[in-house]
Amino acid sequence: MLAAHLPFARRIRVAWFGSTRRSLHSADAATLDRFPIQHVTTCARPGPACGQLSRPMLRWTSQARCPIARGQIRGKKTRTTLRLDELPQGAIPAAPPLPLEEVEPAYPTVLLQARRNMDKFDGCVLLTRVGGFYELYFEQADEYGPLLNLKVAQKKTSVGPVPMAGFPFFQLDRFLKILVQDLNRHVAIAEEFPNSPSDKVKSGGLLHDRRVARIVTPGTLIDENFMDPYANNYVMAIHLPAEADRLQSDDGNQASDASTQIGLAWLDLSTGAFFTQPTTLASLGSALSRVSPREIVLDKELELQKDHTVISILEEEMHLVTYSPLGEFRTMSDWAPMLESEAPIQPTQPFTDNEVQAGNILLHYVKDRLRGLSMKLQPPLRHESLQVMNIDKNSMRSLEIKQTIRDGVFKGSLLHAIRRTVTKSGARLLSEWLSSPSTSLGVINFRQELVSRFIADEDLRDSITVLLRRSHDSHRLVQKFALNRGDPDDLLGLASTIRATESIVYLLREALPEQTRSEEDCLATMIKRISLEEPLKLAQRIREAIDEEGLNQKHQIEDSEADEMMALAQDIVKTEGAPDDTALLPKVAAAKSEKKRAKGITSIREHYGEDSEVWIMKPGASPTLARLHSDLSSLTLEKIQLTETLRTRLNATSLTLKWTPGLGHICHVRGKDANSSSYGAADLRTLSSSRTTRSFHQPEWTQLGERIDKTRFAIRAEEQRVFAALRGQVIQSLVKLRRNATVLDELDITTSFARLATEQGLVRPILYDSTSPTTSPHARSTIILGGRHPTVEGGLAAQGRTFQQNDCLVGAAPGHGRIWLITGPNMAGKSTFLRQNALITILAQIGSYVPADHAELGIVDAIFSRVGSADNLYHNQSTFMVEMLETAAILRQATPRSFVIMDEVGRGTTPDDGAAVAFAALHHLVHVNRCRVLFATHFHVLADLVARGRMRLEDGGDAGAVEMYCTDVEEDGKGGFVYVHKLRRGTNRQSHALKVARLAGLPERAIQVAREVLEGLESGVQGPPPPAEEKDLRKESRAV
Ligand SMILES: Nc1ncnc2c1ncn2[C@@H]1O[C@H](COP(=O)(O)OP(=O)(O)O)[C@@H](O)[C@H]1O
Ligand SMILES: [Mg+2]
Repeated sequence: MLAAHLPFARRIRVAWFGSTRRSLHSADAATLDRFPIQHVTTCARPGPACGQLSRPMLRWTSQARCPIARGQIRGKKTRTTLRLDELPQGAIPAAPPLPLEEVEPAYPTVLLQARRNMDKFDGCVLLTRVGGFYELYFEQADEYGPLLNLKVAQKKTSVGPVPMAGFPFFQLDRFLKILVQDLNRHVAIAEEFPNSPSDKVKSGGLLHDRRVARIVTPGTLIDENFMDPYANNYVMAIHLPAEADRLQSDDGNQASDASTQIGLAWLDLSTGAFFTQPTTLASLGSALSRVSPREIVLDKELELQKDHTVISILEEEMHLVTYSPLGEFRTMSDWAPMLESEAPIQPTQPFTDNEVQAGNILLHYVKDRLRGLSMKLQPPLRHESLQVMNIDKNSMRSLEIKQTIRDGVFKGSLLHAIRRTVTKSGARLLSEWLSSPSTSLGVINFRQELVSRFIADEDLRDSITVLLRRSHDSHRLVQKFALNRGDPDDLLGLASTIRATESIVYLLREALPEQTRSEEDCLATMIKRISLEEPLKLAQRIREAIDEEGLNQKHQIEDSEADEMMALAQDIVKTEGAPDDTALLPKVAAAKSEKKRAKGITSIREHYGEDSEVWIMKPGASPTLARLHSDLSSLTLEKIQLTETLRTRLNATSLTLKWTPGLGHICHVRGKDANSSSYGAADLRTLSSSRTTRSFHQPEWTQLGERIDKTRFAIRAEEQRVFAALRGQVIQSLVKLRRNATVLDELDITTSFARLATEQGLVRPILYDSTSPTTSPHARSTIILGGRHPTVEGGLAAQGRTFQQNDCLVGAAPGHGRIWLITGPNMAGKSTFLRQNALITILAQIGSYVPADHAELGIVDAIFSRVGSADNLYHNQSTFMVEMLETAAILRQATPRSFVIMDEVGRGTTPDDGAAVAFAALHHLVHVNRCRVLFATHFHVLADLVARGRMRLEDGGDAGAVEMYCTDVEEDGKGGFVYVHKLRRGTNRQSHALKVARLAGLPERAIQVAREVLEGLESGVQGPPPPAEEKDLRKESRAV
């Protein structure tokens, strides 16, 4: 029996009473494994240590797994008598914990280290680096081994088997992808750190300590190769002021805290982009859909408030939430060490307190995940001060901007239809532009200007594209160096990007109009934004230093090493994974059998020869390197000479000078030389011999060999130093490299827009500033002549059908209403028309040309849409509830500068209620919001209500805003019909629903019934009598 006292510490005090002894001990959870425990008593007060105890305890109480327990059962029975007062009663008094060294570790130290890390990084999956492998242990091996498709082996230890699973180190990314990307887990990676001599003794001879060097979470990826190159990987913190908490707990009223001011801060660790935004709880959903963060961080304090509005918003969108303490940051000046330039941030508008708080939580969280890795983020940009169009989350979804509604896939989305970019970072920027189109006339015109230049000059466009293809993702490359990562390949990538940038600047300069060379020219502006001087020096330096050929050779070696590791891993699993005892071979035996099996594989050193070791830096990279390489060549020469000398001296022509891991520097002879007695001198002690070979030490070679080794080592060290210096230089040019990269991204997008426009016959829309309606008669109108739907048109073309172009003239005074009420049969193109005009507006405001014959648009501050019907069953909301929530958001938020599309509002309830609600929404839009609206409905009664409310255009006056349009079908008089997708003025009072029903294959009999009901309703009868044959049917069924 065992009693455990659990003070709130990692170590626990235990007392146990076995059959032969009793003792009092201080131990950590792992040590308990050594005891034959049958029962556990603990004090009543539960603490963190109880969890520690109880979890593994389940395992330990099982006798089968506890060797000591097993031994005890088999062994001789002894009896010990104890008097009751000898037993300590109650909780055992706390005594100062004994130092760990005094407790003989129960597990091998590596397992103890792992257990300790698992406890410390609770909630993380721990991967422990052991030599060339990452391993999982204990319950995590059991849990994740199968999920990762890794065989779980039982590692034999002196206290029983421990579950373990592992994979070679170079497969880390593959398994991180499954754990982090697919399973949304946090993964703590414990790396090996060399132990100092004293630590080595303490750890029982271990060469390495294993400390967690990074925690990888879905939102804090840096350069993992499974990252989506086409999307940003944001982690976002949300800060709620204390008042919001109070409001929530006081009345729990969701509407009252919708206006609560909150702060957002988000960053992409892979590019260093960093943003903040003040917003309200009500607009949080839209911000989330715009930014699409992979992970959201909330203050730890919120963890207990599961019913908080913010939690329900996040749950609804199924966001991954992590709770984190506030940490050490208090003000923005505390952020400086984590930013690329430590200069104080001077925004035009000051950051709100909520934004700063969100930034504090975010930076603390990210810093903690990186465990001390330095980071160089871009200074935070305030989203508020950027002039962007707001696309609310419903529009984002229903307009299928980045993915389709139905399957949530990329293909079929607007982004998919227009993306022609050739670089990954260009594609990312395009995706950002689509989520937040510009509202600045200057920005839009500038982009359009570039597009028009690239349409006019096809050669320039194509040459730039070729160069862009040659460039690399420098945002992510640069950020790798900023995070103290990056390798020689990345340096080469940067260098070629800089060269490409140089050539692009040359091309742009050539393309500048000869006579003007004006400062105003858009190409000139692009050139001016690029700084080349410093980056070119860097590129030059990189080219001078890195030996590309050597690098290639190194990769080949790494690849074949990887193959060897895989073979080894499989063997380890084979030997360690077999369940029966015979498979648990002693390590040496396993190693030996391993060696035998590996005999076929030529060792890499053998393959390349020790003298042809590959170097990644050119000797010219530094004076020291040059000197060391010349030293090495003369030493190599000396070696050749020594070989010759020894061959003559010892009369052994087969003699070679070698190095082996086991024997060091040796002379090796073969064939008849192996049996010659000519080198039996005392200083040539034979190390190993067989019938055909013989190896021995020779002092001259030993000396020379050591000198060669030393030089090689020095070269490696110098290469490292040069690399570190280059990395430093990259960081020095960080700001310029990032700025250049953005210019390239913009060139990528604008050249791709030009290509798209040429391919699809798009036109340049004319935009008007809408901030003041007096600036232009078109400031608050949308004029699209011959508009087409960017994705539907292509879909129809693929089926050999043509798209019917339609005009949209909302607000085009005089003569056109601000609100178009569109009626018409099902399937005649109402929804398509609504969406195409919203999409054209978005395309225009990202700077693209648009699918129309002509377009003039007053800039829109927001697009709202209420489209389709999606039940939100997850949140227990009916179709009608969802409809109303979305309608409410529009009526509350739309401004006179907004563009609203409403599709069949009121469909989710009875016709009367539906029509009433739809009319109310229309009324509000006319009188309060006063924005541009396309309103599709099949309640034609709305047209009558509008007329009665004197809201028609012809009614004039302030409220006279609504114009009626409709779609139609054309009948051939024989029951057949075609849809007329052309919009015309007027109201269509026929829904032609039965035609659609027949088209869909409803049984003729059902259609007949429907027609009778319809005719009855129209003539005021409540319903037709059941047809005669049906009455007969009923009679028959009763008779049976
Ligand atoms: N302008 C058009 N030209 C040709 N076909 C169209 C057009 N608009 C819509 N369609 C076709 O009609 C189908 C139904 O259109 P939709 O907009 O959903 O109709 P509604 O909303 O009126 O029921 C679309 O999927 C498309 O194939
Ligand atoms: Mg529709």
